[in-house]
Amino acid sequence: MHKIIVELDKRSYPIYIGSNLINKTELYLKHIKSKQVIVLSNETIAPLYLDSVLKQLTEFQVTSLVLPDGEQYKTLEYVTQVFDQLLTEKFSRNSTLIALGGGVIGDMGGFAAACYQRGINFMQIPTTLLAQVDSSVGGKTGVNHPLGKNMIGAFYQPQCVIADADVLDTLADRQLSAGLAEVIKYGLIRDIQFFEWLEANISALLARDKKALSYAIEQSCINKAQIVSEDETESGVRATLNLGHTFGHAIETGSGYGTYLHGEAVAIGTCQAADLSRRLGWLNNDDVNRIIAIFKQCHLPTLPPNNLTTERFIELMSVDKKNVDGQIRLILLKKIGEATLPIGVDKNILSATLDTYGR
Ligand code: NAD
Ligand code: GLY
Repeated sequence: MHKIIVELDKRSYPIYIGSNLINKTELYLKHIKSKQVIVLSNETIAPLYLDSVLKQLTEFQVTSLVLPDGEQYKTLEYVTQVFDQLLTEKFSRNSTLIALGGGVIGDMGGFAAACYQRGINFMQIPTTLLAQVDSSVGGKTGVNHPLGKNMIGAFYQPQCVIADADVLDTLADRQLSAGLAEVIKYGLIRDIQFFEWLEANISALLARDKKALSYAIEQSCINKAQIVSEDETESGVRATLNLGHTFGHAIETGSGYGTYLHGEAVAIGTCQAADLSRRLGWLNNDDVNRIIAIFKQCHLPTLPPNNLTTERFIELMSVDKKNVDGQIRLILLKKIGEATLPIGVDKNILSATLDTYGR
């Protein structure tokens, strides 16, 4: 088992990465400081892993809530169901919420934990690659709004993250690929050596080679933990984790939540960001082709949907947490392995990318 610490003074916490971790009772005992525990999951993950988790919790007063599966349920309405159950079962302020699932359950569970009685303990047991390498780490929690993705939320750190690589065995290939988009992101924004390792090892990752997957999860979590420790609430370097996300969120919102997986939309958005970075003279054609090629190798989409016009893209990108005074600000690439902080881009150059890339 590997242990990576997210250093945040008194709120520091470990990310455990390894095999068969959801069955290690001692990890739960170490981090649950209450009698009452609720496990939040969804109808796909619960039949696979909920019993294993509940078996480790026999000495607690445990309840569980199984939500429907899908990004379209990442809403305040479904978080309210968590509050309803906690209140009905008289959960007190020192209770613990365990989020067992992918990024959707992790984001909703974390947000419910942040809000219930102004904050109860929570643990993340991420079950998708995307959640293990990104969403479970760093304390961003929240839900979508019809007018914008992740627009309602809170920063709220977990007590620990238990990333059990074995649960990825049941993950669909399409979901594994979507997770790889966020793994590739770390290489692109700050870690050229990791990017080169990924270029050489994509086949092993797609074949679910355990050693390769564990290495990719570990390197991603090391990168993410360093960024979060430096800038927990995104006043600076944390924004670089949004490479491709402003385009990507526009694709997700504009196509209807659930049409594109988050990682798929991020892959397309990263290619658009790379095209824009080339127009600004920072990347060359070879760099852009290299970026497109690695996403293609992962069977990820690299072209935006035809039905999203430039005008619609701009409208959707105008609702973004990085924007300041109404100006769209983007994370771009100075080179492979180095991202910019959010920068305002000339509207004509942005439109040129939106008009021509993939059209
Ligand atoms: P997801 O949670 O919808 O999971 C993807 C699918 O895989 C679901 O159908 C789920 O039921 C299924 N699944 C999960 N684990 C499984 C397993 N082990 N075996 C079989 N099936 C399994 O999607 P995701 O890609 O994990 O997360 C995407 C969400 O994460 C988005 O809402 C995105 O906004 C959010 N996100 C948050 C952050 C953050 O920092 N908080 C970062 C990145 C993404
Ligand atoms: N996934 C973006 C962040 O955690 O900041």
